[in-house]
Amino acid sequence: MKIGPETTALVTGGDSGIGFGIAQAFVQRGARVVIAGLSEEALAEAANQLGGRVSTAVLDIRDREGWAQLAERLWADGGIDVLVNNAGVGYLTPALETSFEQWDWLIDIDLTGTFNGVRSIVPRMLRTGSPGRIVSTASIGGLLAAPGSVYAAAKAGVIGFMEALQTELWDTQIGVTILVPGIVRSNIANGLLPPGESQGVQPGGAGLDVLYQEPMEPKEVGERVIRAIQNDALYVVTHAEHGPLLQRRFDAIRRAVPLETPPEARAAVERMVLEHPIYDAVRARIEEGE
Ligand SMILES: NC(=O)c1ccc[n+]([C@@H]2O[C@H](COP(=O)([O-])OP(=O)(O)OC[C@H]3O[C@@H](n4cnc5c(N)ncnc54)[C@H](O)[C@@H]3O)[C@@H](O)[C@H]2O)c1
Repeated sequence: MKIGPETTALVTGGDSGIGFGIAQAFVQRGARVVIAGLSEEALAEAANQLGGRVSTAVLDIRDREGWAQLAERLWADGGIDVLVNNAGVGYLTPALETSFEQWDWLIDIDLTGTFNGVRSIVPRMLRTGSPGRIVSTASIGGLLAAPGSVYAAAKAGVIGFMEALQTELWDTQIGVTILVPGIVRSNIANGLLPPGESQGVQPGGAGLDVLYQEPMEPKEVGERVIRAIQNDALYVVTHAEHGPLLQRRFDAIRRAVPLETPPEARAAVERMVLEHPIYDAVRARIEEGE
């Protein structure tokens, strides 16, 4: 789909880090942007920095009533074309150091928050009948074994949800893009802490000074997201260096596939359920764009 002055995007967590970079890329193309987040003050400051046609909305993505009210407000003002589910927290703690409350907190924000956005906004986008896109920010930690298994569970959940959602929306005018960032400059390391955690040190996680010594800039991520929307791409993988690492994972999965010939009837059922064009279509579009 095209991005320009006629586009309106909602970016959750648009006041900081990656969300700010995405909002910036929309603003630079003349689009209208609504940035949503937790703090009115931070949102106002970000809107001021962004310039352009930016408005703000205070929203906790866990709050379903808040989503309903925001949807009402957005459609009272013409609706939106792009929903960017980006807000999230990054608590990179090993499972055995994570309490049940901390698991609930992280899954509630990073995974359920994404569903809340889709469920509250996409039915209205479908009713408008014009082209639209859902972008959700996952993480390379959802595709590769990175520090923080609880975070990985949430982000792998976002990826599975979004891929399957793309099949469910296949015959509609709404497409799906999954953003898979590596390390990007942001406030995530100094962000919200889960219940029971009083200091920013992440137990068991790699030292943040090491992780954040040379992050990608959010602006670059924003530009990649816009290109992906314009190409109707299913994925944005931000870091070139993830290519060989992803290949190793896919090879490991491929090696686990039995080499025997499957029973024909069973295989036909499996293909019927699983053989969907979302991957082929994306490859074709990416090759066209290259
Ligand atoms: N920065 C990285 O290295 C990196 C890497 C991979 C994925 N991510 C993902 O990118 C997304 C953006 O994070 P970032 O790195 O820009 O961090 P950030 O802390 O700079 O921005 C996150 C934003 O989300 C908001 N937020 C947090 N909880 C919220 C809630 N419950 N409701 C509404 N807003 C909420 C924060 O207030 C903030 O504005 C997250 O989903 C994160 O998991 C970040």
